[in-house]
Amino acid sequence: MLLKVRNLSKSFQNGTRAIEDLSFDIPAGKITAFLGFNGAGKTTSLKIILNLLLPDEGKIYFENKLLKNDFTPLLKQTGVVLESARNMFYALTPMENFIYWGAQRGLNKKVAQKNGLELLEKFDLLSKKDTVIFELSRGMQQIIAICCALISKPKFLVLDEPTLGLDIEAVETVERILKTLASEGVAILLTTHELAFAQRIADQILLIKKGRLIYSGSKADCLDKFNQEKFITVQFSQALSNNQRAVLESIAKIISINNTTYQLVLSNRKNLSHLLKFLTQFKLMDLKTKNKGLNEVVDFYMKGKNEDGSIKSGISA
Ligand SMILES: Nc1ncnc2c1ncn2[C@@H]1O[C@H](COP(=O)(O)OP(=O)(O)OP(=O)(O)O)[C@@H](O)[C@H]1O
Ligand SMILES: [Mg+2]
Repeated sequence: MLLKVRNLSKSFQNGTRAIEDLSFDIPAGKITAFLGFNGAGKTTSLKIILNLLLPDEGKIYFENKLLKNDFTPLLKQTGVVLESARNMFYALTPMENFIYWGAQRGLNKKVAQKNGLELLEKFDLLSKKDTVIFELSRGMQQIIAICCALISKPKFLVLDEPTLGLDIEAVETVERILKTLASEGVAILLTTHELAFAQRIADQILLIKKGRLIYSGSKADCLDKFNQEKFITVQFSQALSNNQRAVLESIAKIISINNTTYQLVLSNRKNLSHLLKFLTQFKLMDLKTKNKGLNEVVDFYMKGKNEDGSIKSGISA
């Protein structure tokens, strides 16, 4: 495990308990999405991991080594893009930024330039290498900020709201970049409020509510558990006879009938093949299935459930 966070807690001087007893793991080569409402404690957690804030309690292990006062082992291997404009010098060009940020990481000018050119080429921004950051679009600026964070080829990349203010195309580019990096083995921890983006990109989900972790696990498991029940809408060419309806009811629960359109719920996926077999005898006008997404999962956890912060039974970490 690249990073292990154990029992992290932090209160601010004004009495705000920002995070409480947080524990989670960040594996190499995976994208972990840190989700939660405004003020839930995401940025505070990131800042503690990056040694920008001290926790009241808790331990952080990087490559199985406990970090005490010295976070150098982690910081040397970590690239960071925080949610602000302070990740770059806007009056400088991408190449000048790479040289500066490379030097901060102990890279000489030549290596920083070489790494920078490779990154610009990889992310299709080579033509902008000598354009001052001010003159780039918001999306390009964000990609350059990511390049600056990657200049020393870190193993761990931390991004606070990397898609904030980006249009669909720029979000897709960031998505492609992050997926590429993860496939190359980089561990990525990002916060986002864009659940559709998180659903597309994340391997792991961390869900935090009022400073407490209420879900952690793989995205696939999380969605799978929420999609045990299958919602299916079938439109037949004509209404079913009473007999046919009885057979259908023995396979799936009928939740509504509107003319020839039936809404069904399958509580057991084993019944899917029975249902399909049953349906083959009819002329069908339409068939739709609906899967629940991360927005429904987050809704479930955030709205009223788990007020005590406990992990909901049945869907455990
Ligand atoms: N320096 C600070 N002093 C006092 N309270 C703070 C400080 N920084 C954060 N907080 C409080 O800690 C809590 C967690 O804030 P944090 O910024 O970590 O939330 P977040 O999950 O990143 O929210 P957002 O989604 O809005 O970015 C909030 O109640 C916030 O007001
Ligand atoms: Mg934040």
